[in-house]
Amino acid sequence: MLRIAVCVSGGGTNLQAIIDAIADGRIADTEIVRVISNKKDAYALERAAKAGIEAVAVARTDYPDKQSFQDALLGAVDEAAPDLVVLAGFLVVLPEKMVAKYRKRIINIHPSLIPSFCGDGFYGLRVHEAALARGVKVTGATVHFVDEGTDTGPIIKQKAVEIFDGDTPEVLQKRVMEQAEWKILPETINEIAAGKIKIG
Ligand code: GRF
Repeated sequence: MLRIAVCVSGGGTNLQAIIDAIADGRIADTEIVRVISNKKDAYALERAAKAGIEAVAVARTDYPDKQSFQDALLGAVDEAAPDLVVLAGFLVVLPEKMVAKYRKRIINIHPSLIPSFCGDGFYGLRVHEAALARGVKVTGATVHFVDEGTDTGPIIKQKAVEIFDGDTPEVLQKRVMEQAEWKILPETINEIAAGKIKIG
């Protein structure tokens, strides 16, 4: 059984995609052992509660300095003893100690076809605003291993999504979520659980 800890910051639609895929069998042999949020009011925490999944909030404002926050974040992950850490809309730069300790065992979903529209400052709607501003006709989503950089780790899976005339950032974000993110993240986890994608 693959034990996964899912880190979230917001709406949790990618977390929900994982929960649903486990429930309907598209992800086999996998258990979400903990949800970790850096925001106490993240709707993702509601989703975890509804699914009966243990969840903790580790908020920067609860700690006197960055180091103690990072230690608490790593502690919350370690307590869950996961095989895999999934960053699903998690907007915190991971402590280097955590990246080193869980090397090749942390994956992230990014809402573009890396190396386009990624790196510092490219998150959420900003990614889609940049794609529309550049005038690309195709965008998509990427699942990659997390290393010390921002969106720089080895790419695992990608899925392309068409951009249509008149798309707004919000319309495009929804299409990328529905047609790409919510598909390739569960697929990747299922393949890791089946040993088809090697971790660690
Ligand atoms: C989405 O844009 C996703 O691509 C990115 O974070 C945003 C929120 O995701 N990773 P979620 O709804 O909280 O899963």
